[in-house]
Amino acid sequence: MSIRISPIMRGRREFLRKTSFGAAAFLAGRHFSFVGTSTTADSRIEVLLDEPLGVISPNIYGHFAENLGGVIYDGIWVGENSSVPQVDGIRKELIDHMRKVKASVVRFPGGCFADSYDWRDGVGPVDKRPRRTNFWEGVEPKDGAANHRYDPNQFGTNEFVHFCRLIGSQPYLAANLRSLPAQEFDRWVEYCNSPAGSTTLADLRASTGYPEPFGVRYWGVGNESWGCGGNFTAPEYAVEFRRFAAAVPRYGMELSLVASGPNDDNWDWTRGFLEEILRKGPGQMRSIYGLALHYYAWNLSRGRTHDWNEGKGDAVKFDAVDWYELLRQGEVMESLIEGHWQVMGEFDREHRIKLVVDEWGPWYRPGSEATAGDILEQTPTLRCAVFSGMTLDIFNRHPGKVGMANCAQLINCLNSLYLAHGDNFCVTPVGHVFEMYATHQGAQSVRTIFSSSEIHYDRDGKPATFSGLSGSASLNNKDLTLTVVNPHISEAREAEIVIRSANIRATVAAVLTNSDVHAHNSFAHPDAVVPATKNLALQAKNARFAFPPASVTSLVLSLE
Ligand code: AHR
Repeated sequence: MSIRISPIMRGRREFLRKTSFGAAAFLAGRHFSFVGTSTTADSRIEVLLDEPLGVISPNIYGHFAENLGGVIYDGIWVGENSSVPQVDGIRKELIDHMRKVKASVVRFPGGCFADSYDWRDGVGPVDKRPRRTNFWEGVEPKDGAANHRYDPNQFGTNEFVHFCRLIGSQPYLAANLRSLPAQEFDRWVEYCNSPAGSTTLADLRASTGYPEPFGVRYWGVGNESWGCGGNFTAPEYAVEFRRFAAAVPRYGMELSLVASGPNDDNWDWTRGFLEEILRKGPGQMRSIYGLALHYYAWNLSRGRTHDWNEGKGDAVKFDAVDWYELLRQGEVMESLIEGHWQVMGEFDREHRIKLVVDEWGPWYRPGSEATAGDILEQTPTLRCAVFSGMTLDIFNRHPGKVGMANCAQLINCLNSLYLAHGDNFCVTPVGHVFEMYATHQGAQSVRTIFSSSEIHYDRDGKPATFSGLSGSASLNNKDLTLTVVNPHISEAREAEIVIRSANIRATVAAVLTNSDVHAHNSFAHPDAVVPATKNLALQAKNARFAFPPASVTSLVLSLE
């Protein structure tokens, strides 16, 4: 028997409906019914359980928190004397939600900030720490928060590691290569990882409450070294990387060093860097765990300009073409992974070095800040949720290539999972997607074939197409997680889900959508976009599911 789990929404072409008809209503009551196969599915999803692609690293579900705008101060750190509910100065609501998304790894303190940061400013007694001019000071509004412009260093290494422990994450620290010598990198590692009582820096760590080593494994060696991180050419940076990586103290543990990698499709950077690394012999490659790729979807100009400021679009106000334009930019991620992987293979035939996509997300022009004055803050809508689901599915489909990925950024910045200001807090649609996708972490990715006709639309007078349903599947024991994005702005797609050599016993379905594609959560309306979930007990060989327009769906299918 086949099942149908929701109504077919074919014909729902209205782009902007004023009424609020959310996912909860969509899945509720009579819409959640099982029917036979009398209707014809327009799409097919075939999960090939016997074609494993590799284990999905939990680190693909990583985060990024830079000392920038409202990310650290106000976002993560509210201070120990704050009336905002907090744990040792860290916002409690954030901790609670990050536990739900099973946050695997957090990158800190940048970003561009990292190459201006002296780690020593953020250790030792809190009341003795210096105030410093933040890297982003020049962009900050003059009447904005002082602690965004002038860093009080209240949140330093101890506080960051404590935050990571509270949420069950691994810390990923980005070292300063532009403005500090290699010795300071060694010393930061010594501060974090040297055994209790062994060094003066271990004693300093102990004197502020942390006698045991932090055991930080992931270290970035510079950030965007082609730009804010030193303006190097690829070979110049490779020389610097070799110098920084040459003799980092290990303290008996494995360190995973991440090299500053390409921006977008800059194949020359990947090639130039690895070529120069190899010039000293093949053994040099062993010092690199990952190559960082940064990719932001920012140019919504439909090919009119490549200007960084002019090309950006609005986060909340957009039309149907803008919707697809952002998703088109998003799907480029797959070709960037494949392209850089191919170049890396020219130098690293065994593919030991992984891609670390440690900054990704949409980047819009200013104007949608939840808190006035928070630079680079924007309001994620349902469009960002669909973009994020699509991106995470791309990572899931390439588990052997992508060792880590970090959404930019965690809170109050770009593709935030959360927005916060003082007492106010909300989960964005992007945050909900991370929770819906959490069961992929550590599971075996399996090849899945999506057959779904292309979307046709008018791109400023010219016919354009975009792919239909897409997604990924992974198996954890008998539980299959299938995540699917329907990018069609106004039409549902009904798909037959075929799982070879297994029966479906039960399903947990979570659907994130809204009749208004601009829908977003705010402090006043924190639940405007929330997933609707439903548990279904069934006995079936195949399933049939109608994926609503503009939606992200997670189905966790128990197999037998
Ligand atoms: O995420 C914001 C900035 O974008 C980071 O600081 C930098 O690495 C990138 O250019």
